[in-house]
Amino acid sequence: MTYAHQTALVTGANSGLGFETSAQLADAGYGRIILACRTEDKAATAREKLIERTGQDVFEILAVDVSEIESSIRAAQDLIEQPGNIDLLVLNAGVGAQSLRRTSDGIELILATTLFGHHVLTMKLLEAGKLTPDAHIVIAGSEAARGSVPMPGMSNMLYDYGAIQTAVGGGLEAAMDAVARGEEPAFNFNNVYSNAKIWVAWWVAVLARELPEGMVVVAMSPGSSPGTSFARELPAIMRWLLIPIMKVVGPWFKIAGPLPAGAKRYLDASNFGPETSGQFWASPPRVLVGPIEVQTEAHLFDLNLQTAAWDSLVRLTGVGLPGSGDE
Ligand SMILES: NC(=O)c1ccc[n+]([C@@H]2O[C@H](COP(=O)([O-])OP(=O)(O)OC[C@H]3O[C@@H](n4cnc5c(N)ncnc54)[C@H](OP(=O)(O)O)[C@@H]3O)[C@@H](O)[C@H]2O)c1
Repeated sequence: MTYAHQTALVTGANSGLGFETSAQLADAGYGRIILACRTEDKAATAREKLIERTGQDVFEILAVDVSEIESSIRAAQDLIEQPGNIDLLVLNAGVGAQSLRRTSDGIELILATTLFGHHVLTMKLLEAGKLTPDAHIVIAGSEAARGSVPMPGMSNMLYDYGAIQTAVGGGLEAAMDAVARGEEPAFNFNNVYSNAKIWVAWWVAVLARELPEGMVVVAMSPGSSPGTSFARELPAIMRWLLIPIMKVVGPWFKIAGPLPAGAKRYLDASNFGPETSGQFWASPPRVLVGPIEVQTEAHLFDLNLQTAAWDSLVRLTGVGLPGSGDE
């Protein structure tokens, strides 16, 4: 297949997996790659580096803060005003915030960055008919969404939404909104991150049921890739000691792998067939690298929670599916 007439958009393209993915898309022959980064400066610098690395001048820049609803709406508007449609969205941006922070919309930062802006961007592009009929939407998942990771202190990261309802004194709707705002439960990075990636898997499942036939949406974990800037907020000792150690011994224990292999998983997903739409793909059970497979944990398929999270997302962003009356 030739990708010369294909357009891809990658969020978080200035660093780590997003940068590597953008390079691999150019190497694969994509004719237009939109580098969606937090600022124009970051996107322009990434563009220069990518042209140098790949020898191809196929990169365009877009400024978007995907944690902010207004910024995501504005970015979608910029794209809508440009000629040409988009064949591939790689919704990769994410943040490893180590403390509770909220966006100007009052949303907990990790969840907002992981999903809120990506949701808004996708809905607005869908509404404007800016995605091609066989477009692929690939959003960054994580093995953490399975609820456990083979690392100390990460054996049970699942939220108990029943207990959260009791804590907020309301129903599931109130519980979902409290989680989105970071009000419940108390902030713990591992659990907040795991929950954000579970919302990603739920979002994909709901969206797949509503997308026009021919389009594909999947969550894809890039696997554990310690060569990125994701750990930038960790204490220096962890960054300088633990991460280099992970890079060396991680592959032996199947808990870390090379960056290009992680990015390649997004490219693999860009070629998935329609039967995969709605699925969450990641490493095999109990490891964080290796061949990808569909994830099957029961909580990923809880229709009640899927719908409640989607409804919260629509309520708090004010943006829903085209034609649903929520947009
Ligand atoms: N690395 C891993 O082991 C691993 C494993 C599983 C999943 N993932 C997922 O992979 C994705 C990429 O992470 P990474 O490891 O490549 O980390 P990274 O090097 O820190 O890259 C994250 C990217 O997201 C961007 N970003 C963060 N907040 C943003 C915002 N509000 N608006 C726009 N862009 C924003 C960052 O931009 P700035 O430079 O401006 O901050 C950066 O370009 C994340 O979704 C992460 O959860 C990573």
